[in-house]
Amino acid sequence: MNVGVLASGTGSNLESILEAGIPVVVVIADRPCRALEVAEQAGVASELVQRMSFGKDFDRDAYTHQVIEALKRHDVELVVMAGFGTIIPAVAGAYPGRVLNTHPALLPAFPGWHSVKEALDRGVKLTGVTVHIATEEVDAGPILAQEAVAVLPGDTEDTLHERIKEVERRLYPDTIRQVIEGTLP
Ligand code: GAR
Repeated sequence: MNVGVLASGTGSNLESILEAGIPVVVVIADRPCRALEVAEQAGVASELVQRMSFGKDFDRDAYTHQVIEALKRHDVELVVMAGFGTIIPAVAGAYPGRVLNTHPALLPAFPGWHSVKEALDRGVKLTGVTVHIATEEVDAGPILAQEAVAVLPGDTEDTLHERIKEVERRLYPDTIRQVIEGTLP
């Protein structure tokens, strides 16, 4: 099953996916980022579908269309979001049940972009990782896997997020593999 990874950041989840031998055929980024370098070093095709605006004039439909075109061009069958910084729910319409996401909290708690900070601010003692099927409703699709991560005294957003990512780098490739093998969902 051809996998396309969408990423915007440091690409540490992408690295773990590649190390696990997941058959990634293309990495697509919305901005210049380390994830593109990770793809290049691994000899995987990469495309920068650059988001030109972060303001009110951003044309989400046109941008989403560009991403779907790039995925189709590479014959992608399973879309894996690994810290993609642009919300493009319509991709789930083009790939129904075939878009996966990892989220740094125990959904349905703390959806959105600031989940690690919000968990810290709320004073929860446990947060974690959720791997789920992405639907057209953001951070709301069927849950495939979850694992808890303890919030420790003295944690900052960075230290907590790094411990969460350590779990993601194991749980996400494992879950993707099960989807490819047909043992999930
Ligand atoms: C991951 O923690 C992922 O869960 C988060 O971005 C990080 C990407 O890290 N995604 C979201 O917050 C989506 N709402 P990486 O670039 O090191 O893989």
